[in-house]
Amino acid sequence: MKELKPVIKSRERFSSGLAIFFATLGSAVGLGNIWKFPYMTGANGGAAFLLIYLVCVLLIGIPVMTGEFYIGRKARANAVGAFESLKAKPFWKIIGFGGILSAYLIMFFYSDVAGWVYAYVFRSLTGGFAGISAQTAGAQFDAMAANPLTSLLWQAIVLIVVSIILVGGVKKGIERVTKVLMPLLFVLVIIVCVRSLTLPGAADGLRFLFVPDFSKVTPGVVLSALGLAFFKLSLGMGCMITYASYFRDDNNLLSTASRVAVADTIVSLLAGIAIFPAVFSFGIEPGAGPSLLFVTIPMVFAKIPFGQMLLALFFLLTAFAATTAMISLVEVPNAYFVEHFKMSRKKAVFLNASIMFVIGSLATLSSHKDALLSNVKPFGLTFFDLFDYLSSNILLPVGGLLIALFVGWVVKKESLARELSNDGALKISGLIAVFRFVITFVAPILLVFVFLNSLGIIG
Ligand code: TRP
Repeated sequence: MKELKPVIKSRERFSSGLAIFFATLGSAVGLGNIWKFPYMTGANGGAAFLLIYLVCVLLIGIPVMTGEFYIGRKARANAVGAFESLKAKPFWKIIGFGGILSAYLIMFFYSDVAGWVYAYVFRSLTGGFAGISAQTAGAQFDAMAANPLTSLLWQAIVLIVVSIILVGGVKKGIERVTKVLMPLLFVLVIIVCVRSLTLPGAADGLRFLFVPDFSKVTPGVVLSALGLAFFKLSLGMGCMITYASYFRDDNNLLSTASRVAVADTIVSLLAGIAIFPAVFSFGIEPGAGPSLLFVTIPMVFAKIPFGQMLLALFFLLTAFAATTAMISLVEVPNAYFVEHFKMSRKKAVFLNASIMFVIGSLATLSSHKDALLSNVKPFGLTFFDLFDYLSSNILLPVGGLLIALFVGWVVKKESLARELSNDGALKISGLIAVFRFVITFVAPILLVFVFLNSLGIIG
């Protein structure tokens, strides 16, 4: 690979290191933490799943994120254009195209779940959850998710909000929102944790979350933990390539990746600590699936003074977290359309949102067992589950493998060292050597192992 000056120079930049951290964290923290992480941990047996997840974050997540940062900042282009700008063989553009496909697949169901969150903000503001019991909580969720009109309407509202922010551009849109709301969400989740931990029987929830039982671990469980790590950290599809293309030259990429991964993991763990004690205390089934958050959380708040108000705030902040995550998702195809087809930002956003609504409605209409399309099962999965499985368990890890191979085996050692040390300004050659070893050997071997293992070929 030859060294060449980036082709696109006049791109916007984030204004400071802190803005970079919060914007990247804004992409990572979202429904993955608050909704997906708890329900998947619940469905896959608890602590053992959590442990495997943490190993995936450390040995695969942080290295792949750093790799994406390297590619994005060096190339200063979108996920497809980056490989052109780095003068890589055309083959590697497959990472960018796969990423665009993943962004769509994720958005198809993500916008549906975000719609539920928006709906819950609205309903808690109007006092709809006062004095709620386990049964009514379940029934309320069912009534919303199974109703085609309300869920499609909320999904459309979500996509309109995301589009409006995206048309505003990188700095104005993304920065302003993320810097304020991330810390606020953090505080509120801690309040929920405290209440949840003081419920009768809370200890059972903690035991479930922290005392591993490896008898429940199957190859499929390992693949799911890996997929969740990619999903949570927004990896494997060029999202972080796109974001890093807006990074400043003096940002420490390795440190940003580690800090984002740690902060994101803390938010996930807190969400787990907020939810599982309550799940056990109220006798909810931990493996309940996607409804877990929506049934548990209103019940916890029903037991807090000013609970209705705080509940509204909780879902509002979750809605914000989901929205910033979606901004980063839609930005992947967006940046490509704008830079490759010279489309106006407005047109690209409108086109993407329309595609996401039309196909995403298939997910929305199949997300609940009583929904309209819940019996239509291509490949044995509902549309909702299929979009999720294809993205998290296949496309993102394959994308991650390709990124690791590209950074570990194609990129020149010197180029990597120069970019990660900011042209020698950072004295971290030891760390860079460790990173190179992990991204060249450890991450790819683990990824291939998990795949083959889940296909039943080895292990
Ligand atoms: N990480 C986000 C979440 O946890 C979702 C997300 C945003 C994402 N951008 C992504 C997932 C890119 C995969 C790839 O909610």
